[in-house]
Amino acid sequence: PKSKIGLLGLGVMGKSLTLNLASKEFKVSVYNRHVDRLEVDIAKNFAEANKKDYNFPWFDELKDFVDSLEKPRNILLMVNAGKTVDVVIKDLLPLLDIGDLIIDGGNSHYKDTRRREQDLKEKGLLFMGMGVSGGEEGALKGPSIMPGGSHESYKRVGGIFEKIAAKDPGGKPCCIHVGPDGAGHFVKMLHNGIEYGEMQLIAEIYHYLRFSIGIGPKEIASLFKRWNLEMKSYLLEISADILETKEGDEFLIDKILDAAKQKGTGGWSTNAALELGVPFDTITAAVLARNISAKKEERQKAMDLYNMSSTKEDRIDNFNSSELFSAYKTVSIINHAIGFDLLSEASREYDWDLNLSEIARIWTNGCIIRSAFMEDLIWIFKEQPGENILIHPKIVTYIKSTKNTLTKITSEALVSGIPVPVLSAGANCLLGYISGQTSANMIQAQRDYFGAHTYERTDKPRGEFFHTQWKSAN
Ligand code: 6PG
Repeated sequence: PKSKIGLLGLGVMGKSLTLNLASKEFKVSVYNRHVDRLEVDIAKNFAEANKKDYNFPWFDELKDFVDSLEKPRNILLMVNAGKTVDVVIKDLLPLLDIGDLIIDGGNSHYKDTRRREQDLKEKGLLFMGMGVSGGEEGALKGPSIMPGGSHESYKRVGGIFEKIAAKDPGGKPCCIHVGPDGAGHFVKMLHNGIEYGEMQLIAEIYHYLRFSIGIGPKEIASLFKRWNLEMKSYLLEISADILETKEGDEFLIDKILDAAKQKGTGGWSTNAALELGVPFDTITAAVLARNISAKKEERQKAMDLYNMSSTKEDRIDNFNSSELFSAYKTVSIINHAIGFDLLSEASREYDWDLNLSEIARIWTNGCIIRSAFMEDLIWIFKEQPGENILIHPKIVTYIKSTKNTLTKITSEALVSGIPVPVLSAGANCLLGYISGQTSANMIQAQRDYFGAHTYERTDKPRGEFFHTQWKSAN
């Protein structure tokens, strides 16, 4: 019998997804591109390594791989995002028939996905852009899956992905039809944006505790574990594990070079926020913090020039960890608020009809940003669909009680010489959002002054614009 699905691209994620599919009794054909001679036997070796448990038809020729699939065919691409996806689609095209479906499970840019879906539709083919989160283990045991594309496509393969996805706390699959064309990849991109914000937030809190307060990795790990009884955040959990990990007598964290890499999705989500004109402070700050970290040698030189020191000798004893916890929690809420706000805007802009409550639900398990707060967001978005979570009564009550602590901790960290870009971006974003009066009247006046861009007035209805001859006004 022919295979239900073909998996093209046997990297770490491709292999894990293949095993996951097979464990749910889907017959999977496998193929890996021969980019160079070294990669020739990847599909064969993978099939042989697993032949005790599963029978994976593997192929050296793309045509044979395609011919091994049930019609209409379903082909899942797990290749690097970018040019490779277009190259593979181009190679597949002459081998496919009308109605065949290609699913791109990589971290592709949503605009590429929109273009590819359109191009393939014109050729009579179906195309889905599908976000997959959870890393190697998630892919193997149950990832969070964010497929975007037509209803017809989802009807065909949605059941397969729902079977292999993680389960939410209520037992439902962490996989929904997110929306049309690029919606799945947009939602995955935004997932990664939130991921960047949460990661940097935890990183800078660790850094502050270690080098301003003077607490050691082990103690910080137990603090994080205590906080995580409430947060249930996967990222906080792994950060505690990381801080406990030793290599010989030394903590491994101290041997890891502080120059962060990135593959693009965080920055793309910032670009999307700029395009759609929405606030995006904490995620942008997290991306920029990685950028500045990457200038390792330059930073080292500058540190000497400015006589900064990177170690901490004395420990501050009267440090209040519950204050720091509330600052952390508050910024985490803000980080989610701006992320979901961007989803709302994108949904309007692209007519995607995104269901934010359901998106929160499929992020409660399997994915990198799963947490107790994500579970709260399911009902928060049910209670007030499409609204910013910062105006939900429960959130308002909480942040009212923490906002002064957040600004205090942020300023203490800055004064002590520790950069806290996400904490301060969170504090600024919050203050900006809850201020009836901002500094933007001055911006409008400046714009009108030098460019006659006009302004609205406080004593006239919105939508009426005025211009002043500034130099002659007095
Ligand atoms: C996930 C992750 C995954 C990947 C990130 C990392 O949800 O499983 O987000 O997709 O680890 O893309 O991205 P950076 O290399 O940019 O940190």
